[in-house]
Amino acid sequence: MRIGILGACQTGGRLGTILARAGHEVVFSHARSRDKLERLAREAGPTARAGTPAEAAGADPVLPAVHWSRLDDVPEQAGDLAGRIVLTCSLAMSEDDSHLVIGHTSSGPEALAARLPGAKVVAAFNTVPGELPFPVFEASGRTALPPDLIRRGDGPAAKARVAELIAEVGFKPVGLGKLRTARHMEPSGLVISLLACGGDGGPELGCRFLRVPRE
Ligand SMILES: NC(=O)c1ccc[n+]([C@@H]2O[C@H](COP(=O)([O-])OP(=O)(O)OC[C@H]3O[C@@H](n4cnc5c(N)ncnc54)[C@H](OP(=O)(O)O)[C@@H]3O)[C@@H](O)[C@H]2O)c1
Repeated sequence: MRIGILGACQTGGRLGTILARAGHEVVFSHARSRDKLERLAREAGPTARAGTPAEAAGADPVLPAVHWSRLDDVPEQAGDLAGRIVLTCSLAMSEDDSHLVIGHTSSGPEALAARLPGAKVVAAFNTVPGELPFPVFEASGRTALPPDLIRRGDGPAAKARVAELIAEVGFKPVGLGKLRTARHMEPSGLVISLLACGGDGGPELGCRFLRVPRE
C-alpha cells in the first residue's frame, strides 16, 4: 500500500516507520522541518520518503497524526481527501491535554469525518500509547497473544484495509462497529493512558479482551 503520514512525531513517525519496514511505500510529511522528515525516512528504510502534505494526501490511506487542536491544518495542507481512507489516530484532546473536548454525542473521528466530506474515516491507534506499536511489531510472529486494537469506521472496504495494517503492525484487530462507536471508545483511551503512564512498568501497555466461557 502507499501510505501518507501527516505529522511525523511520536505517533505518525513511529507508525510510518513500522509500516515502511513492513514493506509499504510511506510518505512522511507535515513536520516543521524538512530535515526531520528526511531523517525519519532514511531511518525507516528504502520504501519511505519525505514529501509534502499534498504528496502524502495522494496516498491511500492517509494518516493525520497531529494534535487535535491543529487538525484543521490537515485539509488545509492536504487538500481534498474525498474518496481516500483517512486513518485517524487522534484523540480529541484540549490544547493542554487535560480533557477530551468532544464527547457523549460525538467524538473526534466523527467530527473529523464531518470536516472531510467524502473521505472514508476509520479510527484506530488512538486508544493505545504511542510507545506500544514498536515493541508489538518487534514481537509479532513470536507471540501467540498479541494485544487487541480496536478500530471503528464506516465502509467495509476501508475497515478491512485498516484491519490488514493493524495486523501487520502486530495487533489483533477488533472491529467495534460504525464510526459513531468512537464516542464510546475515546474516554477509554484516557484510562489506558493513565495506566500506561502510572507506575514504573513503562508506557508500553496493551490490553486484550477475554470472553470467559460459561461453566
Ligand atoms: N503520543 C501518544 O502516545 C498518542 C497515543 C495515541 C494517540 N495519539 C494522537 O496522535 C496525534 C499526534 O500525537 P503525537 O503525540 O504524535 O504528537 P506530536 O508528537 O506533537 O506530533 C505532532 C506532529 O505534528 C507536526 N506539526 C506540524 N505543524 C505543526 C504546528 N504548527 N504545531 C505543532 N505541531 C505541528 C509536528 O511537527 P514537528 O515534528 O516539527 O514537531 C509533529 O510531527 C494526536 O492527535 C494524539 O491524540 C498520540
